[in-house]
Amino acid sequence: MRELERTLVPTPTERAPIVVVGRGRVGTSLSAAAREAGVPMKPASAADAPHACRGATAALLCVPDVAIAATAASLASDPPALVGHVSGATTLDPLAASAASAVFSLHPLQTFGGASTPLASAPAAVAGSDPAAESFAVALAEALGMIPFSVPDQRRAAYHAAASIASNFFVALEESATGLMDAAGIEDARELLAPLVLRTAANWAERGPDALTGPIARGDAATVERHREALAETAPELLPLYEAMAERTRALGNPRARQPRGGRGLMRTVRTKAALREALEPERRAGRRIGLVPTMGCFHEGHLALMRRAQAECDIVVVSLFVNPTQFGPGEDLEIYPRDEAHDAELASAEGVDLLFAPSAEEMYPDGPGAVVEVDLELTGVLDGDPERRGPGHFHGVTTIVAKLFNCVGPDAAYFGRKDAQQAVVIERMVHDLDFPVEIVVVPTVREESGLAMSSRNSYLDAAERERAAALSRGLRAAERAAAEGERSAEALVEAVRAELRGAEIEPEYVEARDAESLAPVNELNGRPVLVAVAARVGRARLIDSVVLGGDTDKAKGEA
Ligand code: PAJ
Repeated sequence: MRELERTLVPTPTERAPIVVVGRGRVGTSLSAAAREAGVPMKPASAADAPHACRGATAALLCVPDVAIAATAASLASDPPALVGHVSGATTLDPLAASAASAVFSLHPLQTFGGASTPLASAPAAVAGSDPAAESFAVALAEALGMIPFSVPDQRRAAYHAAASIASNFFVALEESATGLMDAAGIEDARELLAPLVLRTAANWAERGPDALTGPIARGDAATVERHREALAETAPELLPLYEAMAERTRALGNPRARQPRGGRGLMRTVRTKAALREALEPERRAGRRIGLVPTMGCFHEGHLALMRRAQAECDIVVVSLFVNPTQFGPGEDLEIYPRDEAHDAELASAEGVDLLFAPSAEEMYPDGPGAVVEVDLELTGVLDGDPERRGPGHFHGVTTIVAKLFNCVGPDAAYFGRKDAQQAVVIERMVHDLDFPVEIVVVPTVREESGLAMSSRNSYLDAAERERAAALSRGLRAAERAAAEGERSAEALVEAVRAELRGAEIEPEYVEARDAESLAPVNELNGRPVLVAVAARVGRARLIDSVVLGGDTDKAKGEA
């Protein structure tokens, strides 16, 4: 083998040269590099190979991958001592046909875009059928000014796939970007994008994943959503590419975006029932547990607590955001109900929510009011459902939309807050009576430091009203204390709440004690859980709060 390596040393007389077979881009570039380095190489076409290689030290086959075996076989009658190829993806196997005593490969990790590409300083993947053949490949690469590294045969395909991603896909990616600019009517896209592309490539070469910038790395879900909408309109064929790259980018991005609490992927917003079903179908097929958190938006810690619980218990979390008109009565706050979808999307995304379902009223009720789901008046006609207050229509609106959401999402579990205690009871009854295959999870009430139960409607309160509103929870705490001290009379417990409200000059709509499951009135604590519920208007806000006393309180009470 020493003898072989000596052939690489520049000599004035061309003795026992290396024959480069193939006059394509790689062969031409290698021949040029050899000329420059003074390495004795002789070019030959594939057809001339058997003749040209006679008496040569080595043959280097620079032919298309599919032609390697046949070209190698053509040398078999009088093969050089060494036969090699320059393919990235091909193992050494096809070279066996040459009957050479040893075979090798040398793949310059470079793109050969022009007729002749300089190879100086390009890395080169080398392999050999024995250590001597490999060291010949190493010596040849070095003699040509390249930097050899070894890739074993069994890693060949992975190595070449990586090279394809880095080079071919990069071009495809940049062409997708220019195509989108073209579609958006921006001219000279390549010229405009080139400085960005080159700087990005230089940054990446220097800093790796730290070169990532932009909305996905920042976890800016609202901007990402605007991108998606623009793509859907301008170049929908690029959406799958965008999603795949967004997913990869998020995985590499900054620590916040890299690991949202759920840690599964970038949140998507969908607006139609069809898109929702389409997004969930593969998850369902894969047997993933789907959790649903129905909301009307304007997220606060109460909503986020439901999302976190769903995250902890499910593989995929869907949050619906829909201000449901059918649960608002005439004169209620439907028009002014607080809405901030962009902020909500950011909060949900940071919680690791997978899908935000934010349909329009037309999408949910395309034919106006129609079929409704009504739970018995024993549950829906009392407390908030009393005809003198919001009325049973409120709960019929809630059960109808929740049933529709259950049918659209098909969740394994759905999450509701104890804060809206009657709503949770009504939904549990609906699910029980209509055999919805969903587990209802009721999450404890999240409160502000003052005790005020968090609510989207708290945004209607000014600072003074906020302070007064804390009297609702103080009253409920007072009832809880009284019960803990042995008070059994429902009337006395209710009075404990009213006393606190009076102190804050709040006239309640109701304060009532009812069985926490059947919502039937109770006169005293009887060993079963009793719901003490209050509703009151403070300023422009109608507030509700409640506590569960007696029975298995730890489980039923549901306080955070
Ligand atoms: P919304 O008022 O947005 O509440 C969504 C969910 O968050 C409900 O299950 C509610 O009980 C829960 N929640 C609200 N405040 C909470 C708090 N402080 N602590 C814990 N959970 C809290 O309730 C509705 O929307 C709608 O009626 C809906 C079920 C979405 C149907 O339209």
